[in-house]
Amino acid sequence: MPRKPDKPKIPTHKRWEGKEKPDWLSRALSRAGVLPQEEAEHAIAAGRVSINGRVAKMALTPVPPGSVVKVDGLVVQLGAPATRVLAFHKPAGVLSSTARQHRTGTVFEVLLPQLPPELAGYTWHAVGRLDVESTGLLLFTNDDKLVAHATSPDTRLPKRYVATVFSTASDEKVEPLRKGMTLDDGPARPAKVVVRDEHTVEVTITEGRNHQVKRMLGAVGLPVRALHREAVGDIVLDDLPEGTFRLLTDEEVREGLKYEGRGAAES
Ligand code: URA
Repeated sequence: MPRKPDKPKIPTHKRWEGKEKPDWLSRALSRAGVLPQEEAEHAIAAGRVSINGRVAKMALTPVPPGSVVKVDGLVVQLGAPATRVLAFHKPAGVLSSTARQHRTGTVFEVLLPQLPPELAGYTWHAVGRLDVESTGLLLFTNDDKLVAHATSPDTRLPKRYVATVFSTASDEKVEPLRKGMTLDDGPARPAKVVVRDEHTVEVTITEGRNHQVKRMLGAVGLPVRALHREAVGDIVLDDLPEGTFRLLTDEEVREGLKYEGRGAAES
């Protein structure tokens, strides 16, 4: 019998060219807000999840577009969910972790137990970070593109901080921050600085380097005793009680963070 010609080999990176690439199962479930990724992995391993009628036991099983996925026998809607953003008032003494969601002593430990069922299924990402003793506005989102957008220095999203300083502040002392100073990791952009009183300085920056505000004020002889973030873009913390959160509206995300989020989920 004549040998069938070998199928032409398509390199992996070209295999899905022009087609919708399948997501893998645990990620698809968490992106859609059905279960957080870790819980999705457990549910899959326990045989509670099926794709097109077959139990899938591997978290990395691809989910081709249009598949019927069931969890505990009930059909779930996959596809990209709408962008959701939470404004959280970070208390002092908790870590801004971006990685492990359930690590003790992190902001996630304070935030996650408060989420209502319609928000609890998503995998939440912190948008940037605040030092452990810093307080104030920390955003969380289920849309990792928003994290990249809001934390990129190219976006120039202003972040407004209020620092309580040890020494005596004056316009003369903070002038180098307004002009743009050189820190040990390179030049910092000019900041907007308002001396509210001799121990309180408002600093607005459009970058977000490590300990940037403390380093800038420290360099002009104003060591920081306490730091609080009041605003990111046009999103203001206002009187949100410490340790609590609120869900931003689509308009706040669009106007306040200059971000066109994803619309409602497609199924
Ligand atoms: N700059 C700092 O020094 N610390 C923060 O937590 C945020 C900005």
